Amino acid sequence: MLIAAGCFEYECQIADLESHGSAEAAALALDLTFPPQLARAVPTRRLEFLAGRLCARRALQLAGCAGRPEVSIGEQRSPVWPPGYVGSIAHGSGTAWAVVASRAHYRALGIDLEKVVAPATALELSNPVLRPEERVLARTAGLGYEQFLSLAFSAKESLYKCLNPITRVSFDFQDAEVVELILSAGLLRIALCADLLPEFKAGDLFEVRFALGAEIHTSTGIPASFCSA
Ligand SMILES: CC(C)(COP(=O)(O)OP(=O)(O)OC[C@H]1O[C@@H](n2cnc3c(N)ncnc32)[C@H](O)[C@@H]1OP(=O)(O)O)[C@@H](O)C(=O)NCCC(=O)NCCS
Repeated sequence: MLIAAGCFEYECQIADLESHGSAEAAALALDLTFPPQLARAVPTRRLEFLAGRLCARRALQLAGCAGRPEVSIGEQRSPVWPPGYVGSIAHGSGTAWAVVASRAHYRALGIDLEKVVAPATALELSNPVLRPEERVLARTAGLGYEQFLSLAFSAKESLYKCLNPITRVSFDFQDAEVVELILSAGLLRIALCADLLPEFKAGDLFEVRFALGAEIHTSTGIPASFCSA
């Protein structure tokens, strides 16, 4: 299962919103609002944003959030969830996806969607994205190099989206390392390699679920009961 127990998800195709004629018409029809930050955005970005917000609303409703919940834009672009809920939004390659959960179960969630990169891009991204030990793991992971690189990239983006809203600390691809990959379970473990806060420090391990396909989906979460080692 890609998302953990207690989580609710919704996915849509961004192109589905195009039938409304424009992002403004889609927003009106769906009763979603554009924040001022999107005022000068190009139409494709406005549609992408809207699709993410539509998924967020639907996932929140599945989680039991009443009415027509809105998710605004917070610090460092992170989504602001209605009281009592946490979640994450991803979009890419024409798809938008949101996962939410009750704060009673999770402190934070992070998800990401990535297309498998082309061989030339994998070579280019290898050093910035992978740590030396990950390049060793890539050889035995049972995946092609491009697939492994794309999966590690996506897992780190998910971890970033999960941790950034609660730590407010930025970190880089070299500050996290995939240390274990269990292909049959669609599960990997990723370790922080830098101290972010006393509570989230180098050596802390996080589980990331993944699904491989034309697009790679990854998801992670900090359980409400999380205690740093
Ligand atoms: C935040 C970030 C990971 C999002 O990347 P992206 O390519 O735009 O990814 P996606 O399209 O899948 O997701 C975008 C969504 O992520 C969410 N998001 C953006 N910034 C976020 C943050 N700081 N915290 C949590 N979620 C965030 C938003 O909902 C956004 O969609 P929206 O703008 O329509 O609301 C990236 O832009 C970034 O800032 N990275 C910082 C450095 C980094 O990558 N570190 C490596 C990780 S180890």
